[in-house]
Amino acid sequence: METSRSILQEIELPLLKAHNVRLHIKRDDLIHPDVSGNKWRKLKYFVAQYKDKKNQGIITFGGAYSNHLLATAAYCAMENIPCIGIVRGDELSPDSNQTLRDCADLGMQLVFVSRSDYMLKEDRSYKEYLIEQYPGYMIVPEGGSGYLGMLGCQEIVGEIRSVTNFDRIIVAQGTTTTSCGILLGLLDVEKLDVVPVLKNFPAVKVMKELLTYAAFDVEFTEELLEKVNVLSSFHFGGYAKVEPELISFIGDFYKQTGIKLDPVYTGKAMYALFDQIKKGAYDNETLVFIHTGGLQGARSYEKEFGSIYDIA
Ligand SMILES: Cc1ncc(COP(=O)(O)O)c(C=O)c1O
Repeated sequence: METSRSILQEIELPLLKAHNVRLHIKRDDLIHPDVSGNKWRKLKYFVAQYKDKKNQGIITFGGAYSNHLLATAAYCAMENIPCIGIVRGDELSPDSNQTLRDCADLGMQLVFVSRSDYMLKEDRSYKEYLIEQYPGYMIVPEGGSGYLGMLGCQEIVGEIRSVTNFDRIIVAQGTTTTSCGILLGLLDVEKLDVVPVLKNFPAVKVMKELLTYAAFDVEFTEELLEKVNVLSSFHFGGYAKVEPELISFIGDFYKQTGIKLDPVYTGKAMYALFDQIKKGAYDNETLVFIHTGGLQGARSYEKEFGSIYDIA
């Protein structure tokens, strides 16, 4: 698996022309059908460390529709790595939905735990318990977050710059791992707009914590964070919440560009980008939107909205 499939695609639309905006999309969604977008970027160095340390397997965590869980299952299947997915919700089973079914079919051992137990996943004693249960396994944090995940995401920027100069990158934000990685790759004049998909998310605070945890000093971190602009009002009610307006935007965008966005991350981020363009916030700029993948997550909305990409 490599990133040559992740092309930089320029989009041409009348709105962009009217504001003299050039919009490129970094198509990380094309890297691999299951290990797509930021998932491959984030897992790459965890897998390298796994091999380095000669671990016996990988344990990770996720919710019922987790992109990360499926990506880990697919990556591990490709690399012949035994893997365990700790899933939030002890009422679930491998047959509860297609994401979990796919994880199980790829060979991931699924362990369903109660919501209260799931919350312990960052606790040291719980991690020690897991290692005791599964000796030699390496724990990958939920969402592939943390320093190793950030390192993989930093590489996106060099790939973009090898094709074009740009003024600003726009990306969806969950744990902030992807955006922190990108931030580390930026030049002084380049900016980063982040779109948190969680409601009331303290984006800058969380980014600061992650960067300082990864051993960057406070002064350097604060300097870096000056490049960040948080577009905080595009969560549509919170994580995984949607509104008909968002769904029809995604359908409309697909119709105009042939590019699918997901309702949880990339749809919200692209909606924010278009909102900013309409307001003139990006006039005369060259923008790069990071398509972080996540399309398998769209399946969970089909019951309510039908096939999202037929709407509009
Ligand atoms: C498709 C998609 N886009 C964006 C993100 C946000 O990335 P991060 O958690 O690194 O902020 C995620 C979550 O990992 C995701 O699954």
